[in-house]
Amino acid sequence: MPSYERIVILTGAGLSAESGLSTFRDKDGIWAKHKIEDVATPEAFTRDPERVLEFYNTRRKGAAGVKPNAAHEALARLEKEHPGAVLTVTQNIDPLHEMAGTRWLIHMHGEILKSLCAHCGAREPWKNDLTTGLLCKSCGKPGGMRPDVVWFGEMPYAMEEIYAALGACDLFISIGTSGTVYPAAGFVMEVRSAGAHTVELNLEPSEGASMFAQVIHGPATKVVPAFVDELLGK
Ligand code: APR
Repeated sequence: MPSYERIVILTGAGLSAESGLSTFRDKDGIWAKHKIEDVATPEAFTRDPERVLEFYNTRRKGAAGVKPNAAHEALARLEKEHPGAVLTVTQNIDPLHEMAGTRWLIHMHGEILKSLCAHCGAREPWKNDLTTGLLCKSCGKPGGMRPDVVWFGEMPYAMEEIYAALGACDLFISIGTSGTVYPAAGFVMEVRSAGAHTVELNLEPSEGASMFAQVIHGPATKVVPAFVDELLGK
């Protein structure tokens, strides 16, 4: 394995599947049970805020007891032990990367354990249910307290920092994502045009699998630790 100086890792729901969290687009995934337009758009929140908050309250409760798995731990180890820079960009809103010890981490789709006031933009850590009756601690207005997650139709977070890292990386690893949601699904093309090596680690070929130079298929808890060991020369 060549030595890489700047690694960018993109992760998706498949990374947390073996920790017990549902993916979105698998047969029994979240979007098989809910319609995106009912629960994950700004329009849905305007139309039926109770329903949207309920959907995320359930997800927040679900994330409460879960623990990082061997794949999250391997990625944290890679960041710690690799001599070069390692940025992890996750589409996941769960806290498992940081619980495993990853430090340089971007939650591009937000975090379930934070609230965001739709009126003033204030964010704060949030562990309990969100309800429409809550007042924002910063602006005092009711009705705007929502989860700090990026909905369809909204701009993912930190895109400038992400594109700068993609443009400078020499290895891009995509893990546990179906490659269907943009802009994340376009990262592989971005890094390919900058000349980086590209690797997909996923249970099965993703939508974008043919765009990767190297693909390794299997459960994240097996393929990720093995790939990290190879990168670290173990
Ligand atoms: N190990 C590795 N990969 C797995 C595992 C596993 N144990 N289990 C499932 N997968 C793979 C699936 O085969 C699938 O390709 O993970 C991928 C999960 O894809 P999605 O459910 O589409 O999740 P993701 O790509 O993260 O979704 C992107 O869509 O709805 C939005 O905002 C949401 O961040 C999410 C975004």
